[in-house]
Amino acid sequence: MPTRPTLLRCLAIAATTLAGCRSNKPASTPAPASAVGPAATSAATRPAQITDEMVSEGQSIFNNGSCTKCHGPNGAGGPNGPSLAAGSWTHISGGYDEIVHLVTTGVPKAEVKDPTRRFAMNPRGGMTPALTDDQVKAVAAYVWTISHRP
Ligand code: HEC
Repeated sequence: MPTRPTLLRCLAIAATTLAGCRSNKPASTPAPASAVGPAATSAATRPAQITDEMVSEGQSIFNNGSCTKCHGPNGAGGPNGPSLAAGSWTHISGGYDEIVHLVTTGVPKAEVKDPTRRFAMNPRGGMTPALTDDQVKAVAAYVWTISHRP
């Protein structure tokens, strides 16, 4: 006779435990999924056209040419040009081909978004002599690299 209440209590405990397990599950499942998400998006794959040689040539062009005068050393930003290292963009969405195109055409004064910028960006940065197509690609490869750091 004493077995019956004991059995009922066991069933009640088992039911509570199962309910506890079920309510824990949704809380623990999303954690691994969200841990994978940000890692997958922040590790942007370098476009195949970009080589290490282009990046180091581009770094030299950037910091010895006109770019650094407006965009600051290593593209960190300056009074006459926005940061190119922040990973946020105004005119483009940051793709390599877009950077090549923007550097080639420049940004005419009428299209400069920030009213505190005093100068337009001339085509190819306005350097004398003008950057060749390969030099534009190299400096764009450098800009892509500094703006896509994990
Ligand atoms: C005379 C100043 C000046 C020089 C020199 C200059 N830029 Fe710019 N650059 C700007 C301005 C101004 C903008 C647009 C900012 C705005 O719209 O508010 C810009 C925009 C850009 C953008 C687009 C940024 C975005 O958020 O969409 C890139 C990329 C860029 N410049 C790269 C370069 C490179 C590479 C060089 C050197 C070859 C260079 N710039 C030389 C002033 C300059």
